[in-house]
Amino acid sequence: MNSPVLQALEERRTTNLYDASHSIDDAQIHELVRLATKAPTSFNLQNWRFIAVRTPDAKARLRALAWDQAKVTDASVTFIVCGQLADHSVLPERLAPAVEAGFIPPALLAVLEGAAKGLYAGQPQLQHDEAIRSATFGASALMMAAQAMGWGSTPMIGFDGPAVAQAFGLADNEVPALLVAVGAALPENWPQKPRRPVEQVLELV
Ligand SMILES: Cc1cc2nc3c(=O)[nH]c(=O)nc-3n(C[C@H](O)[C@H](O)[C@H](O)COP(=O)(O)O)c2cc1C
Repeated sequence: MNSPVLQALEERRTTNLYDASHSIDDAQIHELVRLATKAPTSFNLQNWRFIAVRTPDAKARLRALAWDQAKVTDASVTFIVCGQLADHSVLPERLAPAVEAGFIPPALLAVLEGAAKGLYAGQPQLQHDEAIRSATFGASALMMAAQAMGWGSTPMIGFDGPAVAQAFGLADNEVPALLVAVGAALPENWPQKPRRPVEQVLELV
């Protein structure tokens, strides 16, 4: 296997036990999030925000709202991956760099904004679904980046969403989709869990 991406996919597993003495510095956190934002979003909405909880005090506050899961404090950093309710009105700003770069014509921008408005305006369920979808893609990319950098990761839904939103100052349009812990995995962690056979989950049409 000589592709680092395939290797990261093959080898990633959920980390339960972290080396609490390991730290990841803010430049490395920045790089993880930069790579996470390479993930796709609908219309390139980029409707996400990553809150890197990395001080002992902030991690303890988060752990208390996350089923007291030790990995929240033992990991070097635990991200609150937030999705933002899909909103067509942000598109001109989000697509401005592509317009300035010249490969999205200004006229197309108006078409895209209109399409996004038609899809999301007045559709709260779809706006929320898109927030979760974008955050999940971002979290997945973040975990793969962490894997490629030699760290373990843990996606988590075991937390009190409304309490986390309040404690960490999420905006009204932000949903705490999941937590992702990242840090140095201890050797005692379980191996990768076996998967269902592909034949059970693949339908060829
Ligand atoms: C949406 C989601 C929520 C999860 N929540 C938790 C959690 O709160 N705590 C935890 O220890 N693991 C959590 N996991 C990890 C899963 O248990 C794990 O991914 C699954 O058992 C497969 O194992 P693997 O990731 O090692 O392949 C979560 C995973 C996902 C995708």
